[in-house]
Parts: sequence; structure tokens; C-alpha cells
Amino acid sequence: MTALPPCYPANSRLDEHGDLIVGGCSVTELCREFGTPVYIVDEQGARERARDYRAAFESRHPDSEVIFASKAFPCTAIYRLFAEEGLSCDVATRGELFLALAGGVDPARIHVHGNAKDDADVAAAVEAGVGCVVIDSFDDIDRLERLVPDRQRVLLRVNPEVQADTHESVLTGHSTSKFGLRRALALRAIERLRASDRLELIGLHTHVGSQILEVEPLTMAVDALADLGDFPVYDLGGGLGIPYRSTDTAPSLDAYADALVSAVHRGLGTDVRVLVEPGRSLIGTSGVTAYHVVSVKRDVVVHVAVNGGMGDNLEVSLYGTEFEARVLARRDATERCQVVGKHCESGDVLVRDAELPSPVIGDVLVTPATGAYCYTLANNYNAQPRPPVVSCREGDARLVVRRETYDDLLRRDVPAAAVPTA
Ligand SMILES: Cc1ncc(COP(=O)(O)O)c(C=O)c1O
Repeated sequence: MTALPPCYPANSRLDEHGDLIVGGCSVTELCREFGTPVYIVDEQGARERARDYRAAFESRHPDSEVIFASKAFPCTAIYRLFAEEGLSCDVATRGELFLALAGGVDPARIHVHGNAKDDADVAAAVEAGVGCVVIDSFDDIDRLERLVPDRQRVLLRVNPEVQADTHESVLTGHSTSKFGLRRALALRAIERLRASDRLELIGLHTHVGSQILEVEPLTMAVDALADLGDFPVYDLGGGLGIPYRSTDTAPSLDAYADALVSAVHRGLGTDVRVLVEPGRSLIGTSGVTAYHVVSVKRDVVVHVAVNGGMGDNLEVSLYGTEFEARVLARRDATERCQVVGKHCESGDVLVRDAELPSPVIGDVLVTPATGAYCYTLANNYNAQPRPPVVSCREGDARLVVRRETYDDLLRRDVPAAAVPTA
């Protein structure tokens, strides 16, 4: 068995034939059983990562809490898994709230986000009895004041005006961001919230963005909260980046927790509750996607086309994420390839530059680090059914989301009215 770099699931190895084993299951066998494309999750790896996250923070600051940012992988099996590991969860929409409740998450441990919560969103959150609503605007305050029957705990999202080095679409804490309130406005909101008899302001929230590969912007956001008053709770968001390729590096959990907790102790005090909301760095590397190669075209570029693409992985076209690929159980000399999908546009590229062992039709091709923001961004472009999710643990493979069918694609169509015959 050969160990793999950190962009692969913690419980994955290559066997002596070059097959990938995830959670004790052969990916080649999984592809036979469940078809391709298929999202494969190393369940034990995700559980271990949740425990590592808790340990990293609790060992440095006992009064801390890890919240699963569920937008990264919103399916009931994953909500349940992280709830079983003692994590809270955040939701950004009523749909995510619905899934979290269906996944058995204790409403008291749900944090509700959103920069555009409408009355129905707020009413659903209040009715579910969520633990905390994160106020993003003065309109949120008005709505909650109107719709909360009794009392609701809230955090106020502060825009820290910190620019991190990541794709602009996933930056959220820069000065022109649509999220949260800049400090001058935050002070006014704090005043209003402190005067409210329905809303109990327990603390401040901030989030700089996603796939951040340096800890400095994350600690700068902590510093930005320091002179806004004293609060018992601080939610420092998520954002820690992950390695997508064997050559990538990302800060370790220990380095991240060290930096964040030190910044809290320095600027916010030691007697506060610290919350963090990881998504990508909690589940990203516990997932891989497996495809079959369906066509190889050798010309100026070697195009290796697989039976998925931007329908199951939008990260590449939305954020320019650079993945790597591996063809399983092949030892031929390698060639430089571009891995492309089956969708009708040239942007449908999965891996721009991959050294692969002379791929042929029928090969199983795997892209690692697809555990975050792939399932959730999956779509039906070109009427392509979305892939299933298979959770693997100690050699046991469990189908937790089935493959979409062609009938599913008709599910929302309203049949045309019967044309009356003369
Ligand atoms: C408010 C909030 N918290 C947490 C996260 C999770 O971020 P990440 O997946 O980068 O850890 C996000 C995602 O952007 C977010 O918007």
C-alpha cells in the first residue's frame, strides 16, 4: 500500500495494483457497483477531521465550539455525521435549515446566516427554535423585532475590511462586500440591539472569505473586532484553505488554531466563547470524485474526456480551482493531458494540466479534494443527472444520496393541458 499526499482522504491508500482504496473500499469496485460519476466520502476521515478541529481549539481555548458550515456539503448524511461528532452547524438558507433538521441536527445548535433573509426565512428559523441568528443588516433587526415572539439570541456580522488573497468570488470581508456591516454601522447596530427586549446580542461574527492559505488575514479580522465593545461570544467564521494538488500546501490546523486563539487572547480576552465555522477545511479532502474515461483525443492537446464535468464540479469554472487527476490501476508511461467534461462549452475543464498514464476508454479517473463545494454546486447543465454520494468506512460502502434519474429531470415539469379534440 502506498500513502498519498494530503489532498487525498486521510484513510486512503493506493494498493499494489494502483487502485485507490478509500475508507477500506476499492474505488474501482465502487465505480462498478454505483456507476460513475460518483462522489466518494471517507467517513472516518471526516469524523477524524471534526475531532481534530475540536481538539485544536478546545486544547488552546476550552470554551470553544466548532460549527460545520453546511454550505460546503449539505446532505443529511453529512449533517448527521458532524452532529454525531459534537459539532454545531450553520445554514445560509431555509433549504439548508430544512436539510439540517432532516439530518437530525439539534435546532439549538443551528446558526442561521444570510444577507437576504426574508420574512419566511426568519419565521422558519424562529419556529424551528434555532440557537442563534446572525444579523447581517438593519433590515434583519427590523424583521426579527417583528417576527420573534419572545426572545432570540443573535450575533452581529461585522465586515472587518480585510482583503485576503483568494478568488474574488469567495472574498467576503473586504470593504465593499455585501456581507455584514462595516464597523461604523456595526456600532449603530450594536446600540440598537442592546436596546432591544426581543433580541439578545451575545456577540460578534466575522468571516473573511474562503480558501485562504495564510493565517494573517484571519487574525486581522479578529483584531478588527477588538474595539467594538465587550462580548461573551465571538464567531470567527471559516475560510481555512486546503491543498487541492499534491504540490499544494496549506496551514495546518495547529498553526491556524494557534494564530486565531492567540489573536483572540490578545485582542478580545481570555474569558470569551470562541466559535469557528469551517466548511472546506472540514470536509474538502475527505471526498474524491470518480469518473470513467469515455474519449481520448490526441492532437495539439491530449483531451481526456470523462463522463462528468462542470455539472458535478463547478469549482474550476467558478473559482479557477486547480485540481489534479489520477488514473487508477495503470502503469504506462505518462503524457500531458487536459481532463475535460461532457458539457457543451470549452470552459468545461476539470484539470488543465495532468500527467496521466496514457489514458484509454474505460479507465477510472479520480479527482481528489472534491469533498467541499462540489456536491453543493452540482447542477443539471445539459440535463445531466447529478451523481450519487457513497460514504465509505472500514470497508463498508453506504449509498447516502442516490444518483439522479432521467425521471427526476421531469419531476418539476407541469404536464401540458390536454388539447381538447374537436
Ligand atoms: C459565513 C460563513 N461561514 C463559514 C463559511 C465556510 O467557509 P470555508 O468553507 O471556507 O471554511 C462560509 C463560506 O464562505 C461563510 O460564508
